[in-house]
Amino acid sequence: MSAPLLSIRDLSVRTCADRAILEQISFDVPSSSIVGIVGGSGSGKTTLGLSLLRLLPGTMRMSAGSLFFEGEDLSGWSSAQMRNSRGRRIAMVFQEPLSAMDPVWTVGEQITETLRVHDGLRGKELRARVLGLLERVRIADVERVFRSYPHELSGGLRQRAMIAQAIACRPSLLVADEPTSSLDVTIQAHIMQLFRDLRRETGLSILLISHDLGVVRHLADRVVVLKGGRVVEQGDRAQVLSVPRAAYTRDLISAEGLA
Ligand SMILES: Nc1ncnc2c1ncn2[C@@H]1O[C@H](COP(=O)(O)OP(=O)(O)OP(=O)(O)O)[C@@H](O)[C@H]1O
Ligand SMILES: [Mg+2]
Repeated sequence: MSAPLLSIRDLSVRTCADRAILEQISFDVPSSSIVGIVGGSGSGKTTLGLSLLRLLPGTMRMSAGSLFFEGEDLSGWSSAQMRNSRGRRIAMVFQEPLSAMDPVWTVGEQITETLRVHDGLRGKELRARVLGLLERVRIADVERVFRSYPHELSGGLRQRAMIAQAIACRPSLLVADEPTSSLDVTIQAHIMQLFRDLRRETGLSILLISHDLGVVRHLADRVVVLKGGRVVEQGDRAQVLSVPRAAYTRDLISAEGLA
């Protein structure tokens, strides 16, 4: 079996007041797989995603553990190496694209800038690449979206544009934190299909953070259940969501049934 794309071993995160937020988290993300992270509010899902990109808020720090990504120990990387690889090899999309996109730049300008910095492309070639990315995320009217400001787009289009920006530098891992939670059900289904297509077409792995078990059930190959900053259960999707071992997972599943 080939080595996993990402191996997280005993990851612990504490606040500056020494409160444990994540405790001894260990799991793997295999290549071209979708791993769902589920758990109630405050269980540490977002903190886990941020710690992979070294984007933890100033009040938190990684206190122990190691992160092996594409065979390299990320904890040994300098902050310059991390800056360079953030977005290039690991990228993140957030729940609310409006807050993650810059309101004063058009969608086209933002993605263009990302590619200019990373790939050194210029002119027509650069523009064609950006339009190609918008097509890849199944945007129909790419010229219009290219010229639009984020607030001028519907929520679903904005989320697609943010995904286009996130995959612009061909990352091998996409961390998606509640990527569909602000969208209505039909649009949610389209974004889920898009993630599935991207994985198939580009071999992308996705760490899918969601409190919505339905989304995880549709997409994930493996599921990790967090409670109070600890892993209570992990395994294949069918095992975790159909024959859960932990009482907490059973509670999450029955709560879903009531929703
Ligand atoms: N900036 C911060 N400084 C200190 N503690 C924080 C900070 N942000 C979040 N926390 C705490 O860290 C814990 C985990 O929060 P986190 O946002 O990772 O949970 P979550 O699972 O993503 O929740 P949700 O489902 O509501 O998004 C919570 O107890 C929260 O109060
Ligand atoms: Mg969160």
